[in-house]
Amino acid sequence: MKTIRTLAATTAICAAGAAHAVDLEVTHWWTSGGEAAAVAQFAKAFNEKTEHNWVDGAIAGGGGTARPIMISRILGGDPMDATQLNHGRQAEELIEAGLMLDLTDVAEAEGWKDIVNPSSLLDSCTVDGRIYCAPVNIHSWQWIWLSHKAYEDAGVDVPSNWDEFVASAPALEEAGKIPLAMGQQPWQSSGAFGVMAIAIAGQDAWSAVNIDKNADVAGGPEYAKVFEAAANARAFAAKSNVQDWNQATNLVITGQAGAQIMGDWAQGEFQVAGQVAGEDYTCLPGLGVNEIISTGGDAFYFPKQDDPEVEAAQKELAALLLSPEVQVDFNLAKGSLPIRGDVDLAAANDCMKKGLEILASGAILPDGNQTLSPDTSGQIEDLMVEFWNDPSYSAADAQARYAEIIADAD
Ligand code: GAL
Repeated sequence: MKTIRTLAATTAICAAGAAHAVDLEVTHWWTSGGEAAAVAQFAKAFNEKTEHNWVDGAIAGGGGTARPIMISRILGGDPMDATQLNHGRQAEELIEAGLMLDLTDVAEAEGWKDIVNPSSLLDSCTVDGRIYCAPVNIHSWQWIWLSHKAYEDAGVDVPSNWDEFVASAPALEEAGKIPLAMGQQPWQSSGAFGVMAIAIAGQDAWSAVNIDKNADVAGGPEYAKVFEAAANARAFAAKSNVQDWNQATNLVITGQAGAQIMGDWAQGEFQVAGQVAGEDYTCLPGLGVNEIISTGGDAFYFPKQDDPEVEAAQKELAALLLSPEVQVDFNLAKGSLPIRGDVDLAAANDCMKKGLEILASGAILPDGNQTLSPDTSGQIEDLMVEFWNDPSYSAADAQARYAEIIADAD
């Protein structure tokens, strides 16, 4: 029988050494239809395969809203037992402050070093040789999602690359459609800009800016083309008056918009809506320009609780999240790729298969959350919000500000 944590921790009749059921509060920002379906797989596995309870701590509003809440709870002495974050640099300060549970023993016992692919995901969980997070998926930003209905209604072919998308935008507008769906959460326009940068400026220029923090390249001619493309995209998105990313995906699903540049978590929404890749929608990696994926994603971190029973349950969850069956069930619902290659993904849809092929080919890049500090990412998001919301903000002015941010980036 399951008991609540306080009971398990304090009861005098616990037999020494016996494991007790623990209520584990897990926070995350997975509240869209597809996301909720995916996280439910974790909860189900934890509840069924261990004696513990998953206490769901969903925080609405997306990562930009959820992360400050999560971090302030941990810093403020009211930590949850486990939390989603993007693997990368978001937990750096919490780890350095000694607030996060060291999972190295779990990682060693489970052989994570041999399993996790690409190894950069585990590197992102590692500080001074110790492992502090359990990576659960590979999510890539590098996709554009196109609505077959919207293009059919407009009487034009579904584009197969960015230039064709730009060329088809007037026909969509004439048919009363929004060429590009874009929500108002700051990370959306910032993420879309990153995708345009890789497709338009190319991988070398992107790496120079995002990895080497080269402000000359950020202010140079290759990036000027990206800012011009973004100004164009801003006009295509002018009538897209939605807030959340999944509302923007819904504009594509319902054929009100032609396309959305969004990470592959959008796949979960198409799936929940019963849409089929290749029939109802098309997904193009690298904006149809270069087939590449970024390999960011989600990882679970476990704030220290100073309670051996809770710690044991935290470690059980960490191990379970990477187990083969859970990896398959979760990632099929989420639209992400599993972090291990030794699982059966026969049930994957065409977009996911494409992602797996690209991953196997080695055409991968790190994610912005891995290369830029949260502070730098925040400054870029602020700039993008201003730029996307103000048609009079010129591409050249925005680029100049961007180069300044990169010059100071860490
Ligand atoms: C990302 C996260 C994804 C996804 C998305 C939208 O940060 O890695 O799992 O769900 O936010 O909420």
